[in-house]
Amino acid sequence: MFIPAGSLLNTTFRQLGRKVICGPVLVTRSKSSQPYEQRNELTKSPVCSYNEWDCLEEAIVGRVENATVPELTPEIQAVIPETSWDYFKENAGKFFPTEHMRKARSEIAEFCRILEHEGITVRRPDIIDHAKSFSTPDFTSTGLYAAMPRDLLLVIGDEIIESPMAWRCRFFEYRAYRSLMKEYFRDGAKWTTAPKPLMSDELYDMDYIKSGKRLELPAKGRYVTTEFEPCFDAADFQRAGRDIFCQLSHTTNRMGIDWLQRQIGDEYTIHIVQCQDDAPMHIDASLCLLKPGLVLVNPDRPCYQIDVFKKAGWDVVEAPRPTTPRDHTMWFSSTWLSMNVLMLDHNRVVVDVNEIPTQKLFEKLGLECIKVDLRFASSLGGGSHCWTCDVRRNGSLESYF
Ligand code: ALA
Repeated sequence: MFIPAGSLLNTTFRQLGRKVICGPVLVTRSKSSQPYEQRNELTKSPVCSYNEWDCLEEAIVGRVENATVPELTPEIQAVIPETSWDYFKENAGKFFPTEHMRKARSEIAEFCRILEHEGITVRRPDIIDHAKSFSTPDFTSTGLYAAMPRDLLLVIGDEIIESPMAWRCRFFEYRAYRSLMKEYFRDGAKWTTAPKPLMSDELYDMDYIKSGKRLELPAKGRYVTTEFEPCFDAADFQRAGRDIFCQLSHTTNRMGIDWLQRQIGDEYTIHIVQCQDDAPMHIDASLCLLKPGLVLVNPDRPCYQIDVFKKAGWDVVEAPRPTTPRDHTMWFSSTWLSMNVLMLDHNRVVVDVNEIPTQKLFEKLGLECIKVDLRFASSLGGGSHCWTCDVRRNGSLESYF
């Protein structure tokens, strides 16, 4: 079922739904080195997350290693800051600057330690060679990175879905996560790969940049990706139990949203919400669901359907402006990653140590700030939400609208 934008305006708060806990309790951990044996007994899935706020038990944290500068293809040019264009043109296929990456890597190592200290099991993707060139019958590219599991992996209940993605350089990004996927599958998770897009020229509006109006077109519902085939990035979705919110963007098209709705079935409803954004890609620096009744919004990107939350009794809170210095390198995104935060439960939020105004807001809201320094890591395009994928949260499937 496809839900058109604006359809939520009539949504009313409904009774809390049936509680569904993550499968029966018998757990048998298999070692990935052991031969695979089909198991008939029921197991509790190691993958289980319904929303952005239940108590986090296990998360994948991305990696800096071998992050490679992508070619400035149309789908990338449509979204990244113009200040990165020349750098990408001149350095495509090379690794990002060593010293910057060394700092980013040490920040991420510390981030992992902090999460572990908070009681969370931290898993990491494999280190693979993203600079290796590859060809399909439709295109040739090098890879990008395995820094942002949030972009690729979407956990809905006990199912972990590898998104099709929309950038050619990300076609093979799933490879870095396959060891983890196989382990989760062996241990009882539902593992799904969305239809692989061809990513042939038909998926892209090759005239998008040439039109000279790249920042004006999204308001007219025009994006660099076409409807040639389904595509979406997981980071265009925010989960609130039975209701899932997403945006159409340069990385997520209607066909992609339709595919996902049919895949996850009637138990869930995907709602499209659009923000006023001249380069939409990934909803989690525009609209972030923090916990039941609390949504963080970007004051520069008003959401056209914000009444949906207000009518359901949610508090809508504006994120403070980011404090990242203007000259700080942001190759992929704006500095609004200040609001790209990871909830560890209803009370704890992971926030950048440099973003004092954001911390003050959270403290005023009664949240405990878990501070991490991601200044150099954020240059790769993500805050604590993007750098992670919440594999397992302790909670159940509920309705919040
Ligand atoms: N597209 C998001 C931003 O740049 C990540 O704010």
